[in-house]
Amino acid sequence: MYSLNDSGTDPPAGRLREGGVPMTAESTPAGPTPDGSAGCVIEARDVVKSFGQTPALRGASVSVARGEILAVMGPSGSGKSTLLHCLAGILVPDSGQVSFAGRRIDSLRENERSALRRDRFGFVFQFGQLVPELTAEENVALPLLLAGARRTEALARAREWFGRLGLDGLETHRSGEMSGGQAQRVALARGLVASPEVLFADEPTGSLDSLAGEQVMSLLSAAARDQGTTVVVVTHEPRVAAYADRKVIVRDGTATSPAPAGAVS
Ligand SMILES: Nc1ncnc2c1ncn2[C@@H]1O[C@H](COP(=O)(O)OP(=O)(O)OP(=O)(O)O)[C@@H](O)[C@H]1O
Ligand SMILES: [Mg+2]
Repeated sequence: MYSLNDSGTDPPAGRLREGGVPMTAESTPAGPTPDGSAGCVIEARDVVKSFGQTPALRGASVSVARGEILAVMGPSGSGKSTLLHCLAGILVPDSGQVSFAGRRIDSLRENERSALRRDRFGFVFQFGQLVPELTAEENVALPLLLAGARRTEALARAREWFGRLGLDGLETHRSGEMSGGQAQRVALARGLVASPEVLFADEPTGSLDSLAGEQVMSLLSAAARDQGTTVVVVTHEPRVAAYADRKVIVRDGTATSPAPAGAVS
């Protein structure tokens, strides 16, 4: 049914990486438990990153377990987005290490990191960043199209998300023809459509009122748990962090875990 998915029977849970999308040797896991580190799928160790004279991360360490939803919290300017960008292979640290599935990604070349982001990760940003010229369904289909899917198949798979996220009837709307909450749910569908192993979300509810934000986060966490996606979500809001399994606090460029069980409330 789907050229991207060998099984073809379980969209949207079918994973792109099991289909026709080539993986770089550097990012290919060795097997079902490739990490060798108690289920840790992504990890930053002693990451330092400055922008010119401005230090953003001063030795941040964090590890995320496979299937975990991790909330990254902390004051404005503390380094949350920088940490997320380092974990996702968007930024390269000045020093320290970032590993995904047991392999260093900070030492990969730009094109390899780009392939990794395209094939294994999903992204949701604060303002959705939908392509305004495209319809909602075309926006959702984008990651599949970029990975080489045929247009009709990509659109069919994209449409499956509309009912699931309460977006029925909005398939052909453009971003200017949707509410902020609806547009953000479209962005969420785009982040999840290719069944990424890790979804990185930077303030995904930051532009929404509390009801719409709660709805987005509730859908995000349900869909991620459904398909076993690991989530790293940056948020200021305790009600968003409440959907996470665990939280870390970033302060002055370092990350700490507040307390063990029950800390997320
Ligand atoms: N591209 C950049 N160029 C220069 N300085 C930057 C850049 N990106 C971030 N910084 C600086 O790095 C520090 C950390 O920024 P970062 O965006 O990671 O913070 P944040 O915790 O995500 O903040 P917010 O909650 O406001 O989004 C800040 O001092 C910021 O000004
Ligand atoms: Mg930020």
